[in-house]
Amino acid sequence: MFREFNVTLVLALVVVAGLISAPAFAQTPEEALASIQSDAAKANSGFKGFSAARGESFFKTKHGNEWSCASCHTENPSTLGKHAKTGKVIRPFAPSANAERFTDPSKVAKWFKRNCNDVLDRLCTPQEKGDVLTYLLTVKK
Ligand code: HEC
Repeated sequence: MFREFNVTLVLALVVVAGLISAPAFAQTPEEALASIQSDAAKANSGFKGFSAARGESFFKTKHGNEWSCASCHTENPSTLGKHAKTGKVIRPFAPSANAERFTDPSKVAKWFKRNCNDVLDRLCTPQEKGDVLTYLLTVKK
């Protein structure tokens, strides 16, 4: 009887601990990249993979508007950023310097949409998103 109770209790604790340590929609930046890669392959049958060099140049270049991605996330994404308009501090963009980056799919989707619209007046393609993330994953702390 006691034994059974203990087993149930232990199982309950394991479940609770699991819920606390792994929020329902958490992902690693590598998983985020894998999901962008599957979008890229779907969008373009000639998809040939991502490039950190292309991602870096996309990130640092203006695309017809006032800002590049680096205007707010800085030329060195392992350091603190600063919002180009409001001056608000933005935590480092590179996952090596900020463990929260690219771990919440809804946050990633929301900000890609908003920031790409600001910088390009359109959404970023899966190719562009994947190139940028591939670049960010090469940035050391
Ligand atoms: C005008 C300022 C600004 C510009 C320009 C900008 N961003 Fe951002 N970005 C932000 C802010 C503010 C946040 C949300 C605060 C935070 O996450 O620290 C953010 C967050 C993000 C996130 C969420 C990442 C995560 O998981 O935490 C992504 C993805 C992103 N930006 C991509 C881009 C890309 C790609 C570009 C260039 C096309 C870009 N941003 C340009 C201000 C900017």
